[in-house]
Amino acid sequence: MDAVEVIVTKRDGRELSAEQIAWVIDAYTGGVVAEEQMSALAMAILLNGMSRREIAGWTQAMVRSGGRMDWSSLPGRTTDKHSTGGVGDKITLPLAPLVAACGGYVPQLSGRGLGHTGGTLDKLESIPGWRASLSGDEMLGVLRAAGAVICAAGDGLAPADRRLYALRDVTGTVESIPLIASSIMSKKIAEGTGALVLDVKVGSGAFMKTVERARELATTMVELGTDAGVRTVALLTAMDRPLGRAVGNALEVSEAVEVLAGGGPADVVELTVRLAHEMLRAADLSGGKDPEQALKDGSAMDVWRRMIAAQGGDPDAPLPRAAETAEFAAPSSGVLTGLDAYGVGLAAWRLGAGRARKEDPVSFGAGVTLHAVPGDPVRRGQPLMTLHADDASRFERALAALEGACTVGDGQGPDLLPLVIDRVTA
Ligand code: URA
Repeated sequence: MDAVEVIVTKRDGRELSAEQIAWVIDAYTGGVVAEEQMSALAMAILLNGMSRREIAGWTQAMVRSGGRMDWSSLPGRTTDKHSTGGVGDKITLPLAPLVAACGGYVPQLSGRGLGHTGGTLDKLESIPGWRASLSGDEMLGVLRAAGAVICAAGDGLAPADRRLYALRDVTGTVESIPLIASSIMSKKIAEGTGALVLDVKVGSGAFMKTVERARELATTMVELGTDAGVRTVALLTAMDRPLGRAVGNALEVSEAVEVLAGGGPADVVELTVRLAHEMLRAADLSGGKDPEQALKDGSAMDVWRRMIAAQGGDPDAPLPRAAETAEFAAPSSGVLTGLDAYGVGLAAWRLGAGRARKEDPVSFGAGVTLHAVPGDPVRRGQPLMTLHADDASRFERALAALEGACTVGDGQGPDLLPLVIDRVTA
């Protein structure tokens, strides 16, 4: 087998054989296929697509490039959630302890943010002392102690995807449904969860800008999970506006803690509870404690505190705050009809909440807090958002990102996607 033959097959729009796929992933992981060859193949896949059989073979080969975690020694069922990423999407933070409080074990491997979307690990690292890197034994220890663990994937988990993802990032080949689906699902299958709920975001702040593309991605991932023996279901959810009222690492942790304390913004609570029901149902654990009850009676908060402490964090420590703030005022009076998720995410990123390159640090206190959401009446000059940054020189470019992100109408309600758009099953 040689790499050029595999590239030419896909370049000419033909189907790759199971042998070609297994060989190319193995040879790429082993350094036999060069980066420029894999980038040509990734571009051919982006342009010509892949069949269901090819995507399944590609995903399995990436799983086989590393180890697969095993939670069979736990005294209960595992269930997890993966979001394709959005602006203000802190749902994992209240959701993992909530599901654990209702009887599931949640072994969640999360990532860091890149570009305008935040990463769960960056958010949790704003908690003093909290550690993202755990060994397999430490993960098991946290799961036994708290019922949920959120940490970074180790180097041994789908290493082919780790390399390929970094390559796609710099070759314009991220936005391919077969490559996104196989990337996400190879990690989730290797993570060893028994059940999985996918939160596929739709809208300006998401990878998938239209419901049609999101449904195609969701269907592909549900098929991959099901074929691999993971009970998988997907929700398509709105990302045309930010989720909740806080965007930025420590700001989002505070909002997540509000939800665990029984408060928090209505959309964050609604989506957290809906996803908790889905995760429990996918693992056949629906008969236990009701998620709404677990938020009200403090049991989800108890799990959160145990989980944070088990990973070295101090759940009572004050969170970092940015040194400087600035206001963004309503451009006119009326009803706030739109608040573009991408614009707000870009502003938070420019304030320092996100990173431009993988190795950059993030500012924990930076971000945006929203004082009005679509549907609210607003007056011209009223502060709509507070911007937080460590350095006031960041405000100018962040404010520029918000130009045109807010639309104010004269009485007509907002034209938004429903929070939960659809549910996709096998
Ligand atoms: N998240 C992933 O893990 N992989 C992708 O390709 C896109 C999002």
